[in-house]
Amino acid sequence: MVRFLTRKIADNLYLLRLDDDQIRYFEGLWEVPEGITYNAYLLVHHDKYVLIDTWKHAYASEFIEVLKGVVDVRDIDYVVVQHMEPDHSGALPKLLEENGFKAEVLGHPIVKGMIESFYHISPKFRAVADGSEIPVGSEPLKFFYTPWVHWPDNIMTYAPSLGVLFSSDAFGNYSIPSTVFDDGGLSTTYVHYARKYLATVVGHYREHVLKAINKLGEAGIEIKVIAPAHGLVWRSNPKEIIEYYLKWARAEGVKGKVVAIYASMYGFVEKAMREVTEELSERGFKVVTYAFTDSQHSLLSEVIGDALDAQALVIGVSTYEAGAFPLIEYLAELLARKTASEKSVLIVTSYGWGGAAGKKLADVLTSAGFRVADVIEFRGYPTKDDVVKLREAASKLARELSLISD
Ligand code: FEO
Repeated sequence: MVRFLTRKIADNLYLLRLDDDQIRYFEGLWEVPEGITYNAYLLVHHDKYVLIDTWKHAYASEFIEVLKGVVDVRDIDYVVVQHMEPDHSGALPKLLEENGFKAEVLGHPIVKGMIESFYHISPKFRAVADGSEIPVGSEPLKFFYTPWVHWPDNIMTYAPSLGVLFSSDAFGNYSIPSTVFDDGGLSTTYVHYARKYLATVVGHYREHVLKAINKLGEAGIEIKVIAPAHGLVWRSNPKEIIEYYLKWARAEGVKGKVVAIYASMYGFVEKAMREVTEELSERGFKVVTYAFTDSQHSLLSEVIGDALDAQALVIGVSTYEAGAFPLIEYLAELLARKTASEKSVLIVTSYGWGGAAGKKLADVLTSAGFRVADVIEFRGYPTKDDVVKLREAASKLARELSLISD
C-alpha cells in the first residue's frame, strides 16, 4: 500500500511525501524492490504559498487531498517546477486545475514548452535565470541551473532564511526511509540506495554533477539542509552526502572492492569465475558477485549501483550466436553508459566452437574508457591449464591494483 506523509520540517516548510512501495521498475527500467519516495515541499513565506514540485500523475488526486490538509489549494501563489520528469511534474495539471490556474509556474526556460507538450496546458509561466533571486513575500528564493542532473531543465532552489537547498533529483535515494531526516548520520543502507540512484538515473551525466556541486560551492551559500525529491532529507551533516556524490561522480573506486558479474548457462563460465574470485579474495579483495544462471538472476540496478565505486570489474561471458551472451552484452552497454571510467576490467570468456564474446565485450568497454586488463578465453569447461591462466590473470590484476606485493 502506498503511504502519504505530511511533515512540518521547519517553521514554515512542509514535506509532502509519497511512499511508493507498488513500483517495481523505476522509469520502467530499474528494479526497485525497496520502493521510492517522491518528495514535494510547501513553503509558506509571509502569506505567500510556494509549492516545490509535485508527485506522479497516478497519485494526483491523493496529492491534492494531502495538500488540502495544509493549505487551501486556491491560495498557492507559485509552483516551482525544478524538473519535468513526470515522477515530479505528473500532478501539476490537476494541481493547477484545482488552483484555478492562479499560481505562477517558475522554472528553467525550457520547462514552458515541456509543460505544454507533456500536459497540453499553458499556465502562467516565469522563466527563472541562473543565480537569480525572486522575492516571495518579504524574502527571496534563489535559483540555480543544474542542467543534466538529471535532464537539461533541472534547477535547484535555495531558501536563504532556512538554509534549505531543494535539490531535485540530486542527493536523492531509492527506498522508503522509515524516517524523514537522516538523523543519526548517514547509514550504509542509505549510502547504498543513494549510490544506486545516482548511478542508474544520473550516471550518464556524472560530469554535470561535479559542475553543479562546484557551482553551489562558488555561490557561497550556507546549506544547513538538503531537501531532495527522493528519499531522506539531509540535515545531520549535508556535507557528507555531497562528499559521497563527488566521489561517485568521479567513479572513484573503493580500494579493494571488486565487482564480479557473469552469466553462465551450464556452469562453464561459473567455474572460471569461481577460480578468479577465489584468487582475488585470497589476496585480500572484497568481491561482490552478481550472477545470471538458470537458477538466479541478479538485479541490473544493483549491478550498476555497485559497479560505480568498484576498484575493478571482472566479467564472465560465453559466446552466443557468434557474439556475446545477450544479457552480459546489455549489461556491458549499461556499464558503459552509466559507469564509464578508467577502471580495470578482467574478461573471462568461454566458447564451444568459435570465440567472439571476449572481443565484443572488450570493444564496448574500451570505447567507454575502461582499461581491459586481460581477456582470458577458454574452450568448453576450463582445464587445469585454463585454471592456472585464470588464477594468474586474477593475481596480475591484484598486483596492478597495488593491494599486494610479490
Ligand atoms: Fe526523479 Fe529525473 O526524476
